Order: sequence, then structure tokens, then C-alpha cells
Amino acid sequence: MSGNSFEKAYTPIRIRGLELRNRFIKSATYEGMTDEGHPTPQLIEHHRRLAHGGIGMTTVAYGAVSPEGRTNRQQLLIDGSGAVHLHTLADAVHAEGGRCMLQLTHCGYFTKNQDLRFKRSLGPSARINLYGILGGIILSRSMTQDEMHGLAKNFADSATFGKKEGFDAVELHMGHGYLLSQFLSPRINRRTDGYGGSVTNRLRFPLEVLEAVRQAVGEDYPVFCKINLEDGFRGGLTIRDSVEVAKALEKAGVDALVLSGGFTSLTPFYLMRGKVPLWEMAKAEKDMAQKLAMVMFGRIIMRRYAFEENFFLPLAQKIREAVSMPLVYLGGVCSREGIERAMDAGFDMMALARAVIHDPDFLLKVRDGIVKTSECNHCNICVAEMDRGGVKCVI
Ligand SMILES: Cc1cc2nc3c(=O)[nH]c(=O)nc-3n(C[C@H](O)[C@H](O)[C@H](O)COP(=O)(O)O)c2cc1C
Repeated sequence: MSGNSFEKAYTPIRIRGLELRNRFIKSATYEGMTDEGHPTPQLIEHHRRLAHGGIGMTTVAYGAVSPEGRTNRQQLLIDGSGAVHLHTLADAVHAEGGRCMLQLTHCGYFTKNQDLRFKRSLGPSARINLYGILGGIILSRSMTQDEMHGLAKNFADSATFGKKEGFDAVELHMGHGYLLSQFLSPRINRRTDGYGGSVTNRLRFPLEVLEAVRQAVGEDYPVFCKINLEDGFRGGLTIRDSVEVAKALEKAGVDALVLSGGFTSLTPFYLMRGKVPLWEMAKAEKDMAQKLAMVMFGRIIMRRYAFEENFFLPLAQKIREAVSMPLVYLGGVCSREGIERAMDAGFDMMALARAVIHDPDFLLKVRDGIVKTSECNHCNICVAEMDRGGVKCVI
């Protein structure tokens, strides 16, 4: 390991027309600080504070491209309304010398958004929606090609809106089991038309969305994609497929890939690792039936995965070997050594979530030698806090 690579992490990088002051991105974490789908002053302050703590770019999440694309109806809706709030957020981050990226997504088949009660959610194929079953959203249905074209347009409109309101980049969420990830996943996508089957076919819709977004935002605007290295369950996306996905996205002109893994509705803690805060999550759940289900079946559904620093590094390196485009390492970076290891492995940038939720000044403190390792203990109670007034560290 080299001190040089550590120092390099704190040097600027240019992605298309965008210059970041360093290689650190605050990874998307649905903050739960919204009102009727719009940012609250608390959300604006949350991201301003992260920028004040030296992050190069902060990601605002979970930005749904349509009302039914939300897993619950509180989530941020990027539909052309609430412009002033988004603009204020972007200005506040810029005033601190940071940049901001908007994560755009659609939940696909798994949702507990009560606006969909007794209706069928949309996905690549029909499925039982275990996530929302107790809330009356029992089944999904397969999207028609017209609906897919409509959704690609929603992504493009949301990206245009984000750009207009001052965001410096968009991140298309193709991971964690959301709609575009469902299309990529062989176990979830059972389509028999040109959008299912081979990895080329499964990529078709995500690539159409990307193309619509690119046409809408223009050649100079940075478009990031977050993808899975693996879904984390049998029959899901494997690293062999994700290498092909990365190559296709590179060819299609994506500016950078953020590498992650896991499937929120099936393997939720695969993407985070550490403890499963079942009790806290059950307490935070407002729907009685869901609360009861979580207490009764939570241990079976929410498997625990041991936390290790830089836990995705071995898989992410396989993508590094396959493409030459800018890559963002993500997963368990929480120390000076972890930063060095990610840089030494050839990643251009890295994203952090829990280490900076725990302490927004973490990166400045590591740079200045005040701390070597984050005190985040991966209790993951920050996940339950999303639904209890807003994401925060409870340590
Ligand atoms: C409270 C919380 C909320 C999250 N919400 C999102 C989200 O909305 N979108 C997303 O892509 N990832 C989300 N994630 C996953 C993180 O972006 C990241 O992939 C994961 O926490 C691993 O990074 P870390 O080890 O640096 O925390 C969330 C993570 C946490 C802890």
C-alpha cells in the first residue's frame, strides 16, 4: 500500500465537464426527509453538512421518476414539482464547494406504497410482491413495451429536471433489485420477448433508459450508473453477467459506474453487511400488519452477512479488469487503510455511506490524521431511522 494512493484520493478528478474536488462520493442513502415527495429543510441541511465535511459529491436519494416508482409514498418524487426545494439543496451544496448528484430510480415490482393498494405493481414479469403483500399489493404484472417506453421517458424527464435545478450529475439506479436491476436479474426477469433471456436481452431496457436520458441531458452532462456485482441469491445476477453489463454500459457512453450488490426485497443486508436491526425496524414500521410480519418472519427474510472492510473489493476488481472507464468503489470503506486499498486496486473514486452518516467530518479527520478508522459499528440502526424522522447515526 502507498501513502501516494491515499493522497491521490484527495486530488480533483474530472468526469466529462464536471470537476470534483476529490475522489469521494457520498453514496445514495434514502434519507426519509421529505414532505409530499419534496425535500424538507432537514434534507437540505443534511447534504449541505456533508459538503461542509469535504465530500466531493453527495448523492440525493431515492429519486423516483414516477409516483408508482416509490416503495413508500414518502419518497422523493422527481416529476417537475418542488423545483425550489431541489434548487435550494443544490445551491447549498455548491456554496460549500461540493457537487451533487441525483439518484433516479423506480422500484418495479416490490413496493409497499399504499397508493397501489389492491392494484398490481409493475415489473419485468408477474411475481408475488412479498414486500407489500400485507399492505394489499400482492402481485405484480409484466410491463408492456408501451409502458416501458413511457418509463424511459419518465427517467429522461426527471434527469432533465434535475439538471435544470442545478444537479451536477444523475445516477441511474440499475442495482439493489429496483426496476432496472429486476430486468437484469435472470431469476426475476422471465420475459420471453426481446427483453428477457440472454444478458444482451436483459440489458435492452436499461440501455433504452440510458439512451433516453443521454438524449435528454446532452453529451456534456455526467451520467453515472449504479449496478450490482451480484444479486446475492441463487439464480440471480452473477459476476459473469455483471462484467458483460459493465462492458455494455461503457460502450453506451456511461461516464462512471458505481459498483454495489444485493437485492433490497430478497437480500437487503447483502449490500450493507453487519447487524440486522430487526427490532428497531419493526418499531419504526407504521403499518401494524407489516410490523407483525417483521417480528414473526424478519429473521428468516433478513439474513445477516458479516461485515468486513471493503467487502466488495474482490468482486469489484473483476469489473476493474474488464473495463477502462471511471469506476467508483463502494462497500465498507471506513478507514485510511480502506481508502488506500480502493485506490491501489485502480478505482478512480469511492463512495461511502455509513462512515459519513456517522461523522460527516470523517474524511477531513482521516486526511488530517485525527482518526484512522470510523467508529461506525455497522449496527445499521440508521436504516430504521429512515422511517423515524430521517436517517441519522444513533451511536
Ligand atoms: C440508511 C441507508 C439507506 C440507503 N438507501 C439507499 C438508497 O436509497 N439507494 C441506494 O442506492 N443505496 C442505498 N443504501 C446503500 C448505500 O448506498 C451503500 O451501498 C451501502 O450502505 C454500503 O456502503 P457503506 O459500507 O459505505 O455504508 C442505503 C444505505 C443505508 C445505510
